[in-house]
Amino acid sequence: MSLRVQDNCLNVNWNDVVKILKTVGMSYSDNETHRISFENSHTVIFVFDNDTLIGFGRAISDGIRQAAIYDLAIIPEYQGKGVGRLILNNITKRLPNCNFILYAAKGKEPFYEKLGFGHLKTGMGLFIDMERMRNKGLIE
Ligand SMILES: CC(C)(COP(=O)(O)OP(=O)(O)OC[C@H]1O[C@@H](n2cnc3c(N)ncnc32)[C@H](O)[C@@H]1OP(=O)(O)O)[C@@H](O)C(=O)NCCC(=O)NCCS
Repeated sequence: MSLRVQDNCLNVNWNDVVKILKTVGMSYSDNETHRISFENSHTVIFVFDNDTLIGFGRAISDGIRQAAIYDLAIIPEYQGKGVGRLILNNITKRLPNCNFILYAAKGKEPFYEKLGFGHLKTGMGLFIDMERMRNKGLIE
């Protein structure tokens, strides 16, 4: 592996982003929507092996106190090799004084626990599609 970490959206192929989100079973939209959501994020991290995009993640944030992590995804062939940790660490170190929240995909909580996250006891969410989030097991 010859990994390269990129913290901007230059030359990102948004087709690949959509394809990866789809492949790992995360929610996805069209290329343009993902381009805008990454470009409007405070911190973005893309990881390439040579020229192949293998994973990414982003944080929306005020840059000084609070941040939320979204769209953390690693292609299946590279999962379990420390890339998720690499991306999360790269996000948190760019937002040094921030609290971080996220909603974990079901079953992925132990990954975040390993990286120091705790379970939120009073987390609340207002979603565009509440029923879908209920079906995904993300809200009661
Ligand atoms: C979840 C995901 C981001 C983790 O990234 P990764 O690169 O596979 O994980 P890493 O190799 O960096 O793992 C770091 C540590 O977490 C552990 N870990 C990773 N996934 C885990 C899981 N599902 N359950 C328990 N532990 C897990 C690893 O064993 C490793 O522990 P170690 O340091 O003791 O060896 C990645 O598997 C992924 O993209 N999954 C599909 C998409 C997804 O669900 N994204 C999360 C949305 S909230």
